[in-house]
Amino acid sequence: MRIVHTLAELRGALHGARTTAFVPTMGNLHEGHLALVRTAAQRGGGPVVASIFVNRLQFGPNEDFDRYPRTLARDCELLEGAGCDLVFAPDEAELYPEPQGYRVQPPAALADILEGKFRPGFFTGVCTVVMKLFQCVQPAVAVFGKKDYQQLMVIRGMVRQFALPIEIVGGETLRADDGLALSSRNGYLSESERAESVALSAALRALADAIRAGARDLPALEARAMESLRARGWRPDYLTARRRADLLPPTPAQIDAGEPLVALAAARLGGTRLIDNLEI
Ligand code: PAF
Repeated sequence: MRIVHTLAELRGALHGARTTAFVPTMGNLHEGHLALVRTAAQRGGGPVVASIFVNRLQFGPNEDFDRYPRTLARDCELLEGAGCDLVFAPDEAELYPEPQGYRVQPPAALADILEGKFRPGFFTGVCTVVMKLFQCVQPAVAVFGKKDYQQLMVIRGMVRQFALPIEIVGGETLRADDGLALSSRNGYLSESERAESVALSAALRALADAIRAGARDLPALEARAMESLRARGWRPDYLTARRRADLLPPTPAQIDAGEPLVALAAARLGGTRLIDNLEI
């Protein structure tokens, strides 16, 4: 496996490969990322490239950009073991040699709700860096985790509307035995917070079960679920069931008609903000 830090080295290493499979990451990797790399290896048919870049543009002023763990050496060992061929790990000056004035702004209807409501500008930052990484790597296939469900939808929309010749593949969320979705930010949790953290996936499962059992008053169900998280010491941003197609709230009639749904949640436990989702 090769590790390159500049765009010139990356282009030289790929020398025009047209079947590259790509997994963009911010590093601090866990098994969930490695599963995406394995998926990329199966889907691409060419070299597997992973990028490691903590993208300042997608962090708000009070978020964890500075403390986000930079663990390049360990990440590269893990990537090699998972079958990655090439790691692109640029520094900020390489990817943003001048202030990034041109940005990719996704539509508000999809990007200013849920995560976008609580992290203003987040999806513009994500789309801008992903568009740039796509230009650098020029992959045929790119794999994004379903754990960041809304991000996956925003990227799919960007690829469709800009007619990018890239197949976007969604990788399943990996979970710890107790149900906690694997995430780089789980490392911020103290021992007692780690024990409590399972309550988030449990709340999503309870919401999904209630809907499957026929409950239709979603606002009441969601309010109750958020309240019980609050009672356990969480500060939830949202916990809600939405249509998979556009992340808008379903009507009871749509649920009865079998509309595919997804339950999504974001909540803070101590200083850590966790997100999770469950397709219903
Ligand atoms: O999901 C992530 O890790 C990031 O949002 C991404 C896609 C690598 C862009 O910085």
